[in-house]
Amino acid sequence: MRYGYFDDSRREYVITRPDTPLPWINYLGCEAYFGIISNTAGGYSFYRDPRLRRVSRYRYNNAPFDLGGRYIYLRDQDSGEFWSPTWQPTRRALQEYTCSHGLGYTIISSRYASIAAEVRYFIPLGENLEIWQLSLKNEHGHPARLSVFSCIEFCLWDAQDDATNFQRNFSTGQIEIEDGVIYHKTEYRERRNHFAYFACSEKPSGFDTQRDTFLGPYRGWEAPAAVERGGCFDSVANGWAPIGSHQIDLTLMPKETREIIFLLGYHENPAEQKFDPPGSQTINKKTVLPVIRKYLVKSNANAAFEQLKAHWDELLGTFQVQTPSADADRMVNIWNAYQCMVTFNMSRSASFYESGIGRGMGFRDSSQDLLGFVHMIPERARERILDLAATQLPSGGAFHQYQPLTKRGNNDIGSGFNDDPLWLILGTAAYIKESGDWSILEERLPYENEPGTETPLYEHLQRSLGYTLERLGPHGLPLIGRADWNDCLNLNCFSDTPGQSFQTTTNKDGKTAESVFIAGLFVMAARELAVIAQKGSLREEAERYLAAAARMETTVLQHGWDGNWFLRAYDDYGHKIGSAVCEEGKIFLEPQGFCIMAGIGLESGQALKSLAAVREHLATPHGIILQQPAYSRYYLNLGEISSYPPGYKENAGIFCHTNPWIMIAEAMAGHGDEAFDYYLRINPSSREAMSEIHRCEPYVYAQMIAGRDAATHGEAKNSWLTGTAAWNYAAITQWILGIRPEYDGLRIDPVIPAGWQGFKATRRFRGNTYVIEVKNPSSLNRGVKKLLVEGREIPGSLLPAATPESAVIHVEAVLQ
Ligand code: GLC
Ligand code: GLC
Repeated sequence: MRYGYFDDSRREYVITRPDTPLPWINYLGCEAYFGIISNTAGGYSFYRDPRLRRVSRYRYNNAPFDLGGRYIYLRDQDSGEFWSPTWQPTRRALQEYTCSHGLGYTIISSRYASIAAEVRYFIPLGENLEIWQLSLKNEHGHPARLSVFSCIEFCLWDAQDDATNFQRNFSTGQIEIEDGVIYHKTEYRERRNHFAYFACSEKPSGFDTQRDTFLGPYRGWEAPAAVERGGCFDSVANGWAPIGSHQIDLTLMPKETREIIFLLGYHENPAEQKFDPPGSQTINKKTVLPVIRKYLVKSNANAAFEQLKAHWDELLGTFQVQTPSADADRMVNIWNAYQCMVTFNMSRSASFYESGIGRGMGFRDSSQDLLGFVHMIPERARERILDLAATQLPSGGAFHQYQPLTKRGNNDIGSGFNDDPLWLILGTAAYIKESGDWSILEERLPYENEPGTETPLYEHLQRSLGYTLERLGPHGLPLIGRADWNDCLNLNCFSDTPGQSFQTTTNKDGKTAESVFIAGLFVMAARELAVIAQKGSLREEAERYLAAAARMETTVLQHGWDGNWFLRAYDDYGHKIGSAVCEEGKIFLEPQGFCIMAGIGLESGQALKSLAAVREHLATPHGIILQQPAYSRYYLNLGEISSYPPGYKENAGIFCHTNPWIMIAEAMAGHGDEAFDYYLRINPSSREAMSEIHRCEPYVYAQMIAGRDAATHGEAKNSWLTGTAAWNYAAITQWILGIRPEYDGLRIDPVIPAGWQGFKATRRFRGNTYVIEVKNPSSLNRGVKKLLVEGREIPGSLLPAATPESAVIHVEAVLQ
């Protein structure tokens, strides 16, 4: 069953009923001011950091869920009836409803009692404010007398404190109201130089700023006292819960349309110019008023919206494809690329599942997120790589996370996730392959942000590799530390105390448990760094890395191969994990993917066996499961993985992040049909028709789909912020469609379903635009035998990075 449809020409998903199985959200903002918004206008906004600069309030895990939002109430003054044109929070049955989530904007339209309403929410580029553009049309045959009430609940900035520290918070809230603009200025009197504002293009006939006056005692958002009686109370918040609500009264003639603009924004003043007049406690509004005035003008708001659309068209224009699969086209051309940008911006901080309070920027997460957007904004990838590297420890190890506002490593989680540093090599390699910018390797960066410790980025990468080599276990495989990619395989933890963090508790000496996954990752990273060294004329060093990779490969084949698939790990007793000898957890996905992607066993045959085992034991119609059989009880020696009920999350869930590793491995083995088959199993668009099972948004990937052992097999959770976005994008574009940046050019090496007669793509790469047509006249999976550039045949399958920039280059590739 569907709850809407894709409108590809407008790059929108249109939701046609408000009661989706879960809130289906979208993101506003691309730079500093951001918001999440659901299909019923729920959500919140923040400036840069969703914990420390939260602008508006949201109630996570509320009943009903998704409460707190950008709300509007409409009231017919003659009948006394009132409703919300976005359905929430009144939830009155609307006669018509659609929500169009687009790229950086959301439009909710509805009709009730012959009043058609549409609200368009978006954030103009370069501004720290959001626009709510409301248009109302009277479809009665007689004049309609309406009152419009806007409503936003302010957050007292630090979202964590806001949700817990009531003994203080109930006394600090402050508001200022001037010319109909409501200013939220809690703590502005002391150390904050920022405030929020809520403005409106019409002259309000009333307002409220104290929540409990607006709502009335013991009442909720579905029927505020002010709305019910048809008039605000003009309340001024002192402490308690500051809100902003404007009341606008208007009469619409039959068929008349009116537009009202609301602005919610964040503004900073220089510390010495906070007050006007100086010495007073009144906000200095000199710099904010021009911004407010500008966007309350309809033509300016419309122009800002057009600019936003053009911005996304430009970004997405970097890579567009036309294949025989509508699901692939839609995801590659629109939604997957969009999700990659959002994930990059947010890391794992703010979604319907991530509260914006808990997590900093993950070291490995951010390094992987790069893979999905580096072609769209390479400069921002560069900046992220440098930020990450500056938090690296002198040992080569890494803090598991860093805080976006301070850019410092997060001590609470600390380090010792032994895979972390290796991802930096892969992220940097991806950046250089895309941009050709070798100068990044010379950037001098500190360790642990400690001034005076700077070395070139290249040395950071050397230390990353060294970190693994200095930490090998009894079999010569890398020691796992606190965990590797799988945060929940905590082999040095042995926790039996409730509430203890699995990820920071380490009570084993860590010298025994080893990870085959890190071994695969190491081989891949070492070979990558060898190429980089070679290009820098460091021939001996390159050979050392290649030799280390070869040794590790041998070790994996000797101690990391279980007979039919790659082992997962050795635990603290030196016992195998992910082996046929295990009672549960006999086979894990991660080492199958990573060892094969690193090239291990591709020639000697293990790769094919491993892929067959994945198909036999792990593949389900809803995607590939992380391991089987699921752990049915808690294992002290395994950690968090066995804390989850069978089929969920890391305990045999379909952890979508890892599925593309198998797609890539299948592509490397030349299996285009298998690779694409796996691709479609978790492709959100191809799952749209079973939205009642999938339940999450059908336009973006979720972190997890419940596995075969779960009571709710096929149900997705944790949508939006997941490494799934970047890896799926890489799998489909670089390995299945096979358009892959390399150091010296753009590789064209598709591995596609035999039934495809070909496909077309447009790819901007290092300043040129390649218009590519792939032809598959003999129904093959792989094998470019003829490559024509502007009609002239060139040998091989690599388009050398062309020098004349800004050219449009026509390419034809024929599989034979
Ligand atoms: C989450 C984490 C990521 C980890 C994965 C598997 O997605 O953000 O770092 O690799 O879970 O545990
Ligand atoms: C939990 C989650 C895992 C995530 C980690 C992040 O362990 O299960 O997916 O990576 O938290 O801290």
